[in-house]
Amino acid sequence: MRPRRFFVETWGCQMNELDSQRMAGQLMEQGLLPTREASEADVILLNSCSVRDKAEHKVYSRLGQYRQFKRERDDVLIGLCGCVAEQEGRRALDRVPDLDFVLGTARVGELTEVIARRRAGERPVATGFTDRGHYAIDAISRHGEYKGMVTLIEGCDKKCTFCIVPRTRGPEISRPLREVLHEVRHLVDYGFREIELLGQTVNHWREPGGKEDFADLLDAVARIDGVERLRFVTSYPRDFTPRMVDQFAVHDNLCPYLHLPVQSGSNRILRLMGRGYTVETYRELVASLREARPELALSTDLIVGFPGETEEDFQATKKMAADLRFSSFYAFKYSPRPGTAAPHLPDPVDDVTASRRLQELFALQEPIQQELNERLVGTEQDVLVTGWGKEPGVQSGRTVCHRVVHFASGEHPVTTGEITRVAIDRALPHSLLGSRLDAHRQACAQ
Ligand code: SAH
Ligand code: F3S
Repeated sequence: MRPRRFFVETWGCQMNELDSQRMAGQLMEQGLLPTREASEADVILLNSCSVRDKAEHKVYSRLGQYRQFKRERDDVLIGLCGCVAEQEGRRALDRVPDLDFVLGTARVGELTEVIARRRAGERPVATGFTDRGHYAIDAISRHGEYKGMVTLIEGCDKKCTFCIVPRTRGPEISRPLREVLHEVRHLVDYGFREIELLGQTVNHWREPGGKEDFADLLDAVARIDGVERLRFVTSYPRDFTPRMVDQFAVHDNLCPYLHLPVQSGSNRILRLMGRGYTVETYRELVASLREARPELALSTDLIVGFPGETEEDFQATKKMAADLRFSSFYAFKYSPRPGTAAPHLPDPVDDVTASRRLQELFALQEPIQQELNERLVGTEQDVLVTGWGKEPGVQSGRTVCHRVVHFASGEHPVTTGEITRVAIDRALPHSLLGSRLDAHRQACAQ
């Protein structure tokens, strides 16, 4: 008999990536095998993101494409999961007649049950946050991953006026320290060298009912034997404390890289966004982080064209980016989201202006990144291999400071998730090119 297969398409952030691993794990426990071809799958899951753009629109057109497979084989199941599922709920079933079920972000652990309900004739909608259910770490499929991701916090309690995440991921809940440490040890035993701690505002973690905060947690995780690289994402500037900053000075295995979204360089816009910090306090935080760890690479998120953003506000954002010299950034045009406050603000920025501002930011950033990357030419770096590059025979990986490195694999490629030593030969704005130093040694050893 032909084995049953599943296909998961993942959009969006690391939380969605981890949720997809959780869903894959449950299906594999049921005896299904993964496939890269949706056309071969018996279960197709679309794990969606709604943070920007016309996400709902994109979801419906993708579901439309998947529906064709039902015409070829009528036992195929199609499920909508992730943030659009949470947002749309039953509406999605009404709009897409062939959609089998809707699984919200807090109900990922119920996938098997939801599929069983579907097979029994129901069209289930599992959404909402009243019962988040058990978080089964053993049922996460980590196969082929280069890092072990661990959830610290689910949901978000902040109210940034542009952001839909609190609605799609629900209220903030921290996982107990004991569970987190157990999961990290489990991942180290599994063989992961890099651990990434996840949360929408990861540094807001608190022991439920206890007094430990994120500084205590970082300290405890960094001390676990076998954690070679530790990262966390995403930090909220206002939630950083001096003790958290100190961890960068204390623990070598805490990677010298931090993603610290600032969104804007104008205090007026930050206030309208409801971010709760100023450009000055952000700059002070960056200075203290760089003092604790001088080689720290900093990346950020920026939004242009937020309602009311004047040319002066935008120039302030450019100045901040020029001064702080981020190692990389993600810049987005503001996109109005349903159920958020910002679309009601006065003075929307037209699309042509927003696009021009976005281009100006990229033009400003490119030479900064080129120059920062050039400083690494001539050095040797430990590179954690993340997979294959676009060119044949080229592997890719990340330095401790999270820069992308491409190098020729040689005769004996490095296994994904392993660390190899690479001499950096050339810098581009978005990546580094290098040569593997231990290729010969490894080849001889085999
Ligand atoms: N706490 C999460 C936030 C998720 S959204 C994190 O920082 O990763 C990720 C980024 O998307 C935000 O930092 C913001 O820069 C951008 N973003 C969120 N909502 C947006 C919107 N409505 N329009 C444009 N960009 C948005
Ligand atoms: Fe969104 Fe702000 Fe939370 S950006 S995820 S509401 S911290």
